[in-house]
Amino acid sequence: MVSVAVLGNGVVGSGVCELINKNDNNIKLSKVLVKNIDKHRSDKNYSIITDKIEDIFSKDIDIVVELIGGIHPAYEYIKTALKNKKHVITANKDLISKYGEELLELAYTNSVKLYFEASVGGGIPIIKNIKNYLISNEIKSIKGILNGTTNFILTKMNKEKTSYENALKSAQELGFAEFDPSSDINGYDSARKLSILSTIAYKKKVCWENFKVEGIQDITESDIKKANELGGVIKLLGISNFEDGKVYASVRPVIVNKDSEFAKINDEYNSIIVEGDSVGKLTFNGKGAGKLPTATAVYSDIIDSIQNKENSFLFNYEKASLESNSNTKCDWYIKINYKKSHIILNELTEHFKNLDLEINKKTNQILVMAKSECEKYINEISDRLLQLEDVDSINSLMVLNN
Ligand code: HSE
Repeated sequence: MVSVAVLGNGVVGSGVCELINKNDNNIKLSKVLVKNIDKHRSDKNYSIITDKIEDIFSKDIDIVVELIGGIHPAYEYIKTALKNKKHVITANKDLISKYGEELLELAYTNSVKLYFEASVGGGIPIIKNIKNYLISNEIKSIKGILNGTTNFILTKMNKEKTSYENALKSAQELGFAEFDPSSDINGYDSARKLSILSTIAYKKKVCWENFKVEGIQDITESDIKKANELGGVIKLLGISNFEDGKVYASVRPVIVNKDSEFAKINDEYNSIIVEGDSVGKLTFNGKGAGKLPTATAVYSDIIDSIQNKENSFLFNYEKASLESNSNTKCDWYIKINYKKSHIILNELTEHFKNLDLEINKKTNQILVMAKSECEKYINEISDRLLQLEDVDSINSLMVLNN
């Protein structure tokens, strides 16, 4: 019998307890760590609930499952568990994207496992597949919807015309959003997940703090309408690729064609397209957030650690050299909020051939559709326009047609 302790009894923690109790795999749920025992009096696992961390590091626990989230105290708890020679399973993307290399090394030196499948893509087995199945391939790119909360909000705003606030409230009630949902909304959650996948895929540390991260906080109902008019829908995408020894990575809202794979991914579902040099493109779809899908990934890691899969798996400490602009040419939808339009129009005509634009004098907005331009050029023009007194703000959305 293998003895498991679960740290945290929230959405995912309670889901893992449910799966352990339901399945008969010689796994015993021995302890559940919570902050405040009184809040869990009606829990059917109450007899094993504790608020004492010492109980978790006791001799009879074999596997520690960390589902508290955030950096502290999860970081300290995981380190102590590894030093006490316990396998550790976690869904903590904040921690793995920041301290993955150190914690994996600590697991290795203590001859135990550290698995974190549930940190990316909820119930989608994406880490195992990049790490193991694609081992023979050089990964060229990763593109994906990596956050369930924002995909849920964008879906509700697009299909049901639900307001942003109500959609976020439902995502929180359904247990998809983070404790502080700003990390979902501002793209940080997706960025952490993209950094984990890219670090594994490209075998160099890809730090999310060093690449462009933009969330859905500035997306308005009129942007969603405009995207529909252009034949697309807005999705928050994490994109990375590896070319000539450099990694390009970003998280941003993108207008994707309505017939594309990503346009069909709705609600809390995630989708990740990985391209390997030998296998070509592989697509992984499934529920990216929520109690039982995420618990499924955790449970699978528990089984892997019992079966003692893989001798060692480490992150590279060496940092990837990051390219800040994508070299791929694509279309762009640029929204300029202005005070006076004529100087801006002169600038735009100078810089874009075949200019396609709309001026809305009521909202003081110019909408530009720029065809087949690279990101560097769009950024240069945006910077130049932002220096004009007549320009208040500029937002550029990439338009992907396939
Ligand atoms: N808040 C995250 C999301 C949970 O919405 O995707 C799963 O990592």
